[in-house]
Amino acid sequence: MRNRKILLTGAAGQIGQILTRELAKRYGSQNVIATDISGNPGFPCAFEKLDVLDRERMEKLVSENGITDLYHLAAILSATGEKNPQKAWDINMRGTLNALEVARVTDVERLFFPSSIAVFGIEIDREKAPQHAPLIPHSVYGISKAAGENWCNYYFEKYGLDVRSIRYPGVIGYESPPGGGTTDYAVDIFYKAVEEGHYACFLNANARLPMIYMDDAIRATIELMEAPSEKISIRTSYNLQGMSFTPAELFEEIKKFIPEVTIEYQPDYRQDIADSWPGRLDDQAAKADWGWKREFDISKLTETMYRGIKSLQQQTT
Ligand code: SER
Repeated sequence: MRNRKILLTGAAGQIGQILTRELAKRYGSQNVIATDISGNPGFPCAFEKLDVLDRERMEKLVSENGITDLYHLAAILSATGEKNPQKAWDINMRGTLNALEVARVTDVERLFFPSSIAVFGIEIDREKAPQHAPLIPHSVYGISKAAGENWCNYYFEKYGLDVRSIRYPGVIGYESPPGGGTTDYAVDIFYKAVEEGHYACFLNANARLPMIYMDDAIRATIELMEAPSEKISIRTSYNLQGMSFTPAELFEEIKKFIPEVTIEYQPDYRQDIADSWPGRLDDQAAKADWGWKREFDISKLTETMYRGIKSLQQQTT
């Protein structure tokens, strides 16, 4: 395989910011181009503005820079998507088709597509969502991710494009803000607990969802992308499990660091989205195919989030 030349879309998003920095460290910042519709958050590599609906510009950036690996991260998440389903569909679906087509007609060798727990609906075993299940998602975001996964599989089968994908659980980190997701509560709660000592949670106390700490999510992404092609048996998307908890369980963990913290529950429309998602995923295929293993459980996550936010606070005061 020749040297990697990497381009990311949606690089200024929650996962994109951290993944871009990690890829720049690993492959050299001269080999990474971050793109986003919004501004440059201070990347250590080249940055270009890119609207993923502008296929011509995407193709130009990819072909002129000899891109081999395309990470198509740009998307509207679940909660924001429900506010404007048509727009979410356009960006998520047209953006993905543009990325797949650009990869097909250029020298891109590998394409990464982030899928989600949102592809599942209430028809599956909520205790442990299977790798292969009927996908009847209840949010426009979930519909677009389920369709996106299937388009990825189509491009692999039809054109031999080496497409790889992960169904991320809710991703939790403190170095980049999440935006518009249902699992975002699990990031907000830490900031509010540290800064205000109180959190008004937009989900129910017992809304169990699969989650993953950022470092594990980034490591999984890179491990999947670096795995030999013959190890990849799933070309739709791999289930990935980090940990599972409810808001009440996370609150109890946070209390170990901030004993005086309080919480109230004010579930809104996002609870309906959470109700349609599984509490846990079966990630046996990721373990067997490319050796996935999580490192962060809820207590390691809580300590890392607490200490990370505290140290950010100290840097700004
Ligand atoms: N974290 C995403 C969301 O809540 C799920 O993939 O929308």
